Amino acid sequence: MKKKKKIYEGKAKVIYTTEKANQVIQHFKDEATAFNAKKMEIIEGKGVLNNFLSEFFMEKLNNIGIPTHFIKRLNMREQLIERCEIIPLEVVVRNIAAGSLSKRLGITEGQKLPRPIVEFYLKNDDLNDPLVTESQIVTFDWVSEAELSEIFELALRTNDFLCGLLAGVNLTLVDFKIEIGRSLKYSGEKLVIADEISPDTCRLWDTKTKERLDKDVFRLEQGSLSEAYTEVANRFDLLPKNEKSAVK
Ligand code: TMP
Repeated sequence: MKKKKKIYEGKAKVIYTTEKANQVIQHFKDEATAFNAKKMEIIEGKGVLNNFLSEFFMEKLNNIGIPTHFIKRLNMREQLIERCEIIPLEVVVRNIAAGSLSKRLGITEGQKLPRPIVEFYLKNDDLNDPLVTESQIVTFDWVSEAELSEIFELALRTNDFLCGLLAGVNLTLVDFKIEIGRSLKYSGEKLVIADEISPDTCRLWDTKTKERLDKDVFRLEQGSLSEAYTEVANRFDLLPKNEKSAVK
């Protein structure tokens, strides 16, 4: 599958068209950003790690019938995905208080939540991705009511599945963000999980030591991001055998 035209470049990924109208190539870059790109660094190998990790999570979800945009990995940094119309919401699911929830509501970081919380943020860098309510989402027609309930279900099923998968390698899924697309293959009628699922978009803590193995390492300057992501990849044995690490 050949790359044709660049159609989108974000902070961490680039999207290219292919000869198939409904399939695009997603290229993972090494840029790490935080705080709406106020903090930025090139971290060698991050793109490779997230390509493999996102492949792993998305493929597992596809296999259990949770639809994602993922088709196949093409090489170390690129994967073929279904072309989607991305819904302008970041969907966050939380199992343990951390990050902006702790900051906004004063809830002690690390406190287990009695049940998962689902939150929605409007994807708008100029407004700093504000938290939005379900009522606002439907009123402004970002998604229909039917789509909103489907998104809740997708988000909670994904959470259940990923919690179990990660628990198997002693990782706690504290929270994560997903993006949802309307797949063009199904004329926009079908919702799929899009973008990426990786330590850029999840909080992952070692279950015993509570060590952070996600982008908070970079946000909070607590060590090496590539070492943390490599550790996650190695727990699932994802890196090619001849690569001691993806960082080179
Ligand atoms: P938050 O606690 O900062 O709101 O983040 C919640 C989750 O969403 C956390 O797993 C990190 C992820 N996230 C992103 O993937 N992209 C973002 O831009 C932000 C702010 C958070």
